[in-house]
Amino acid sequence: MIIGVPKEIKNNENRVALTPAGAKELVKRGHTVYVQHTAGEGSGFPDEAYAEAGATILPTIEATYEIAEMIMKVKEPIEPEYKLIKEDQLLFTYFHFASYEPLTKAMVESKAVCLAYETVEKADRSLPLLIPMSEVAGRMAVQKGANYLEKPLQGRGILLGGVPGVLPAKVLILGGGIVGTQAAWMAAGLGADVTIMDVSLPRMRYLADVMPANVKTMMSNEYNIRKMIKNHDLIIGAVLIPGAKAPHLITRDMLKEMQPGTVLVDVAVDQGGCIETCKPTTHQDPTFIIDDVVHYCVANMPGAVPYTSTLALTNATLPYAIQLAEKGWKKAAQDNPDLVPGLNIINGDIVYQAVAEAFDLDYTPVVKYLAD
Ligand SMILES: NC(=O)c1ccc[n+]([C@@H]2O[C@H](COP(=O)([O-])OP(=O)(O)OC[C@H]3O[C@@H](n4cnc5c(N)ncnc54)[C@H](O)[C@@H]3O)[C@@H](O)[C@H]2O)c1
Repeated sequence: MIIGVPKEIKNNENRVALTPAGAKELVKRGHTVYVQHTAGEGSGFPDEAYAEAGATILPTIEATYEIAEMIMKVKEPIEPEYKLIKEDQLLFTYFHFASYEPLTKAMVESKAVCLAYETVEKADRSLPLLIPMSEVAGRMAVQKGANYLEKPLQGRGILLGGVPGVLPAKVLILGGGIVGTQAAWMAAGLGADVTIMDVSLPRMRYLADVMPANVKTMMSNEYNIRKMIKNHDLIIGAVLIPGAKAPHLITRDMLKEMQPGTVLVDVAVDQGGCIETCKPTTHQDPTFIIDDVVHYCVANMPGAVPYTSTLALTNATLPYAIQLAEKGWKKAAQDNPDLVPGLNIINGDIVYQAVAEAFDLDYTPVVKYLAD
């Protein structure tokens, strides 16, 4: 198969969909890989590394779209890319269709095949191509929180791990899924006193088994949250209710109960946030203060660490990309059920029900395309 890797053009996006190591794997299997000039630069991979791996460097985004049967990207195509996409071309990337109607309509019109990272799903309902970014964001949440707890950044002026003779900071994590678990590991590793709150008892039983002694679990409910926020220094929002807006577990009135300089990191901000006062911020201007409480609400946290994020993402996407390259999207999806829910739009038909419903557009069951 001919695979094209364009440079991401969305503002501040420095990740790339394929590393030189990934290019080498595909070339080794007899596929042809074209990488747009400087596509990997933001993640620390120069053109020469791709050329050494057997890929060909193309000068422009137009040339990359023009030649490829499969386009591998990170972010959804943005407007200038719409016209470059060709009928029958396979696009393997994040799309998040339900949040943007113009993109959905443009992809329907393109008659391309859109396989969305975010809806590839395993039999246990886990989302293998979203997990790596949650892992990055969870770990980063503690790094950022520790930083903003410093006095010059308007935090409480407390060191996460304390020192001998001084108690460590208290970290409260709302939601013990992927983000919450990774955040807990980091905070615990730095010596903080950590509590994870969740509504799932089986999840908390698991966490209680695997976490170190400085991580405790507690049932998430309003009563307990109100009690805990009074003396916690760093509070991380990591709740997810699949397919729904995050519930506001921390409401506006609760800020007054917190100590001045408390830091809130709402990782769930991309789903509306689980802290009522959080609104999306950027890496350029990541925080704001309400009632002496620092709010960090960057919606694309992994974007700040493109080297790690690119490697984490491509570790997860490459096995699927190889299947798609070897078999074509139809046979690959017939053989691997994980890929079936990833199919969102095929040749002008919306085959993912929630996307069709989001914009009141026609829905075509994907079986139409997968039956022989
Ligand atoms: N800001 C970013 O850059 C960024 C990056 C990656 C992920 N995220 C977001 O982080 C959030 C968490 O993602 P995840 O992968 O950890 O999800 P996940 O599904 O692995 O975990 C969510 C957890 O929330 C728990 N939960 C549900 N309702 C709860 C409640 N009322 N109280 C406490 N816990 C509750 C669930 O039981 C589950 O354990 C998502 O919104 C995701 O989109 C943001």
